Amino acid sequence: MRIVVMVSGSGTNLQAVLDAVGAGRIDVEIAAVGADKPCRGLERAEAAGITTFLVRPADHPDRARWNRALQEAVAAHTPDRVLFAGFMRIVDAEFVEAFRGRIVNTHPSLLPSFPGAHAVRDALAHGVKVTGVTVHEVVADVDAGPILAQAAVPVQQGDTEAQLHERIKAAERELLVDALGLLARSVPAR
Ligand code: GRF
Repeated sequence: MRIVVMVSGSGTNLQAVLDAVGAGRIDVEIAAVGADKPCRGLERAEAAGITTFLVRPADHPDRARWNRALQEAVAAHTPDRVLFAGFMRIVDAEFVEAFRGRIVNTHPSLLPSFPGAHAVRDALAHGVKVTGVTVHEVVADVDAGPILAQAAVPVQQGDTEAQLHERIKAAERELLVDALGLLARSVPAR
């Protein structure tokens, strides 16, 4: 299964996928890694010798045109799936339609609880005792697509947002690699 990975941040999820691919644990080829801004995730891809691309909103006159540019940059690598691994931008319905049913996102909560950009903070503020991570298909509504996999992570007394997010991310890396491995088995060889 050929994938394009989109990142915005530290890229630890990407690193887990890079490591799993490198170790031959999953039948995945990373065609390219893209980002909306320079970030550690892009550096990790470059260090691994993967093609990278950057599509910055500031380089485009409006959101619609940024979306088109991103869509073209991703499509140029002819992926079977597009993985959003800590990609912190919302894409429009046209982008979702272009890769319909083929975009996978990872989100640090048990959806449908706590969608949005502050999932870990919101879970703590709500006082839940268990939160977790969701790998799901992307649809036009944010954090709303069919769920592919989930893992629960207990909240510990006195947890800070950073501490809880680190434990979620440990679970997230494993879940994401497993989910990709399963998806790869359902994609016919090219
Ligand atoms: C992950 O927890 C992701 O779900 C969230 O931001 C974090 C990104 O981490 N949206 P990284 O860039 O993969 O290290």
